[in-house]
Amino acid sequence: MSDTIGTDTPYTALGFYHKISQLRADTWNALKRDLGKLIHLKDDAQSRNLVKAVDIKLTRLEIIEDYHAFPSKEDFRHLWHLFNRQEYSLLEKVVKRLVRAMISESYRRRQVDLSETDADAEDLETLDALAQLRRGHPTSNSSSQPYFEVLIVDAMSLQEEEVVREAFHNLRRPEDKFVYDVVTVRSFEDALIAILVNPNIQACLIRYEFPYKSKYNLSALRNYLEGISEVELETKSEAERSILLSSMIREIRPEIDQFLVTSGDVEVTASRDIRHFNRIFYRETDYIEQHHTILRAIDNRFRTPFFDALREYSRKPTGVFHAMPISRGKSITRSHWAGQMIDFYGINIFLAETSATSGGLDSLLQPYGPIKKAQEYAARAFGSRQSFFVTNGTSTANKIVVQALVKPRDIVLVDRDCHKSHHYGMVLSGAHVAYLDSYPLNDYSMYGAVPLREIKKTLLEYKRSGQLDKVKMLLLTNCTFDGVVYNVRRVMEECLAIKPDLVFLWDEAWFAFATFNPTYRPRTAMHAARHLRDRYRSEEYAAEYAAWKEEFDQLDPDDDATWLDRPLMPDPETVRVRTYATHSTHKTLTSLRQGSMIHVYDQDYRQKVEAPFHEAYMTHTSTSPNYQILASLDVGRMQAEMEGFELVHSQVEAALSLREQLYTNPLLKKYFEVLKNSDLVPAEFRQSGVETYYDPNAGWNKMEEAWAQDEFVVDPTRITLSIGKTGIDGDAFKNDYLMNQYGIQINKTSRNTVLFMTNIGTTRGAIAYLLDVLIKLAKSFDRRWEESSRPERKIIEHQVKSLTHDLPPLPDFSRFHDAFRPHVEAGTPDGDIRRAYFLSYDEENTEYLRFDNGELQRAMVAGRDVVSASFVIPYPPGFPVLVPGQVISEEILYFLQALDVKEIHGYRPELGLIVFTEEALLATSEGAD
Ligand SMILES: Cc1ncc(COP(=O)(O)O)c(C=O)c1O
Repeated sequence: MSDTIGTDTPYTALGFYHKISQLRADTWNALKRDLGKLIHLKDDAQSRNLVKAVDIKLTRLEIIEDYHAFPSKEDFRHLWHLFNRQEYSLLEKVVKRLVRAMISESYRRRQVDLSETDADAEDLETLDALAQLRRGHPTSNSSSQPYFEVLIVDAMSLQEEEVVREAFHNLRRPEDKFVYDVVTVRSFEDALIAILVNPNIQACLIRYEFPYKSKYNLSALRNYLEGISEVELETKSEAERSILLSSMIREIRPEIDQFLVTSGDVEVTASRDIRHFNRIFYRETDYIEQHHTILRAIDNRFRTPFFDALREYSRKPTGVFHAMPISRGKSITRSHWAGQMIDFYGINIFLAETSATSGGLDSLLQPYGPIKKAQEYAARAFGSRQSFFVTNGTSTANKIVVQALVKPRDIVLVDRDCHKSHHYGMVLSGAHVAYLDSYPLNDYSMYGAVPLREIKKTLLEYKRSGQLDKVKMLLLTNCTFDGVVYNVRRVMEECLAIKPDLVFLWDEAWFAFATFNPTYRPRTAMHAARHLRDRYRSEEYAAEYAAWKEEFDQLDPDDDATWLDRPLMPDPETVRVRTYATHSTHKTLTSLRQGSMIHVYDQDYRQKVEAPFHEAYMTHTSTSPNYQILASLDVGRMQAEMEGFELVHSQVEAALSLREQLYTNPLLKKYFEVLKNSDLVPAEFRQSGVETYYDPNAGWNKMEEAWAQDEFVVDPTRITLSIGKTGIDGDAFKNDYLMNQYGIQINKTSRNTVLFMTNIGTTRGAIAYLLDVLIKLAKSFDRRWEESSRPERKIIEHQVKSLTHDLPPLPDFSRFHDAFRPHVEAGTPDGDIRRAYFLSYDEENTEYLRFDNGELQRAMVAGRDVVSASFVIPYPPGFPVLVPGQVISEEILYFLQALDVKEIHGYRPELGLIVFTEEALLATSEGAD
C-alpha cells in the first residue's frame, strides 16, 4: 500500500507518530529492496542515488530503533560499519536477517546475533517464521515465555549502557515466566517518546540524573508536554523530575510498572508523591532484586484468575452427578449423532463446561474467589472502583445499572436515540423519562449526540420548576454507533454545577478499547470521573471555584444566559462524583459474544448503592452464567493490560491508512465520500476549528488537538462512507454488494451511508482487501454508466438524487401525552413510560390506525392527539421513532412514510400503528389505569 509520508522523504519528525509502526516496517522493507538492487547495479549514477537512499533510510531507522531493544544500538553500529565500508552485499544479508527476525519476532524468543550471517542462523529465522505462521493454527501452542522490554532512563555512556544491559541479560533463567530485554534512553523527552513508539515496554526503571531535552525533534510530544516549562524542568531536583516523569508515563500508559532507582536519601524521597512507583530501589539494590521485582510486577498483570481456575478444573477427574449432560463432553463423546460438536470445538471447551460452582470455581452471583479477583483486576485495568462481569451483553448491563439506581418516579434524562435496552430499562424501573434530542445529521439520516447546552437547559427547567431533587440520572451514549464522542469531563462538570449529586450512566458499549489509548482515554467515563474527583479535592480547584463563584453571583440567575452561555463549576463542598459505565467488551476487545462489564466510580456506592446494585444484579443475572464468557472476559482484560496500547494503536493506524486512501484516491472519491470530523460534528461544537484530522502535508497531526478541546469528536476508527453517489442505498450496498459479492460484513447502514468499523483484530491486509473491493466496485459503477442506455441513465440519476437530496428530516422527540406526564402542571417534559407501556396490555385500550391510507392523518386533522401504544423502531437507524405514550407528530409520520427500510419493529403494515383509544387516554388522565 502506498504511504503518503513517502519512505524516501528525509524527515525525522515523529509528528507522524500515528503511523510510526507502519513507517518502521515499511522503511526496513524499503531498505532491504534498495540494497537488493544496489548489489546488482553496474551503473555508477544509479548506484550513487541508491547509496544516498540507503543512507537516508538508515538514518531514519536509527532514530526509531533508538527506542527499541531489537535491533540494539550495537547492531546498528554494525550496520553503519558495513555501510561505511561499502560492504553492501554483507549489509544486504544482515538487513534481510533483521527484517526476517522482526517479522517472525524471533528476537522475542532468543537473542539474535546479527554478526552471524551463516546458513544456520538464517535457518533459525526461517523456522521461526514458519512457527509464526502456524500460530493461527488450532494445534499450535503459544506457551513460550512471553517477551517484553524494560525502559531504563539514565544519562549513561554507551559503555555503561552495555554493562547494564549485559547485567540484566545474565540474570535470565530458563525457568523464568517471562523474558525481557532492556532499552535505555538518556533524557526525559526520550523516555516519553520510547513509551509512545515502543509498545513492548512494560516496565520502566527511572534511574539517576537525566537531562530534559532529547537530541531529536519530537513534535509528537507537543500535546503531552504542554504547560511544562523546559527551564523549570532543568532546575528541578532529581527526585522531582523523576516524579514528574512517572506521572506523565502514568497518564500516557498507566499499565506500565514503574520503579524508581534513587541515589537520594530515603526520607526525602519517601516524603514525596511517589504513588505511581511500584517500588523504590536505592542505588545499592542489586540487579537480582530488581529483576525479580520486575518479573513479579508483570506477572501481576498477566495472571488470569478465573481462566486459570477453569483450566485447572477441566484437568481434574470428576464424576458428574448434577445437571448439564454436556459437561466434560459426556453427552456427546459417545453419541452416534452429535459427535461433530467435539470435532468442531475440540474437547477442552466441554471439559471446562460445568454447572458446579465448586471445585475451585466461583459463583458470579456471590463471588469470593477467582471471579472476585478477576473483577478486581478489571477494575484496575479500566480505572474503576468496582467492576462487574455480565454474561448477557450490555443490553443487560444497562438494565442492571438503571434498576440499581433509579426508583419508580425518579426522573432520568435520557438520550432519545440510545440503545433500546435503556428504553426498556426505563419501563422496568418505572422512571419518569425526559428525552433529550441529539443534533440531527439530516444529510446522512443519522444523529450526532446531545449538546451540553440542551442538557443544561433541561436541568435548568427542572431547577426552576422546583423538581430538581427528583432528577436522578443522566444517561448518554459514549461513543455513538457512528463514533461521535462526548467531552465527558465537561458534561459531568457542568451538570454537577446545577445538580451536585447527579448520577451519570455512560453507555460505552462501543468504547471499551478507548481506555488503552492516551488520546481516547480522557474521554472515557472512568478516567473522567477519577480526574474530576481528584480535581474537586485539590486546593487549586477550591481557589478556582471561589473566583468563579464570585463572578457568577454577580449575574442574574433568572437569565438563561447566566447558565447556558458560560462554563459552570460545581461547589467542591457538596459535589459527589457518581459515574457508571457499561462496556460491551465483546464489541471492541477480546471476549466471547455477550461478554460485558459494568464499571463503577461512585463516591456513594458503598453507602447508597451496594445493596440495591446486588438486587438488580440478581434480577438480571442467570443462575447459570456461561463460564466460557467469564473466562474470555478475564483473558480479554489481561490482554488489554498487556498489549491494549499496541493493539489499539495499530487499529488507529489501520483506520487512518484506510481514511487516507479514501480521502485521496480519485476513483474512490468519485463515488464514496468518507465523512470527516466536520461532516459529523457541526462547527459550533468544534472549538478547535479542526475540520479533518488529516492534512496531506502535515499528516494526522490534528487529531489530538480536536480530542483535547472539542465538545464532540469523531472516533476515526469508525469510518462512515457516504455512498449516495453510487445510487445504491445503504442496505442494498451492504447485502448485495459487500456481503454477497465480496464477503465483507458490516453492521450499520443509513439510507445513504455504510459504516466500516475497524477493531483490534483489523490487519493491514484486511484494509488492503477492503480498498481493493471498493476500487473494483467504483470501476463497476463506471462501467454501469458507460454501458447504460439513456432511460437507464435517467433511473440512475434519479436514484442518486433521491439518496443525496430527498432525505426526510429526522424527527425530534415530540412529547409525552399529558395523560402520562406526572408533572404536567410544573411544565416539565418527563413521561411515565411504564404506565403507557402496561396500559397497552389490555386490548380494549388500543386500536390500530393506518397511515398509508390517510386514516391516521385524518384523525390528527380532526384534532385528536394520536398516541403511540408501543415502541416503533425502524432498522436502520435503530432507535425508537415512537415510544409508548408519545404523541405522533406530522414530522414523525413524514419520516415513517419516507423510510424505505424493510424492518420496523412495532409496526405492522397490514394493520398500521398501534395507538391508544381516546377513551383509554381520558380514563388515564382522570387517574384510572
Ligand atoms: C450503544 C449500545 N448500547 C448497548 C448495546 C447492547 O450491547 P450488547 O450487544 O452487548 O447487548 C448496543 C448494541 O449494539 C449499543 O449499540
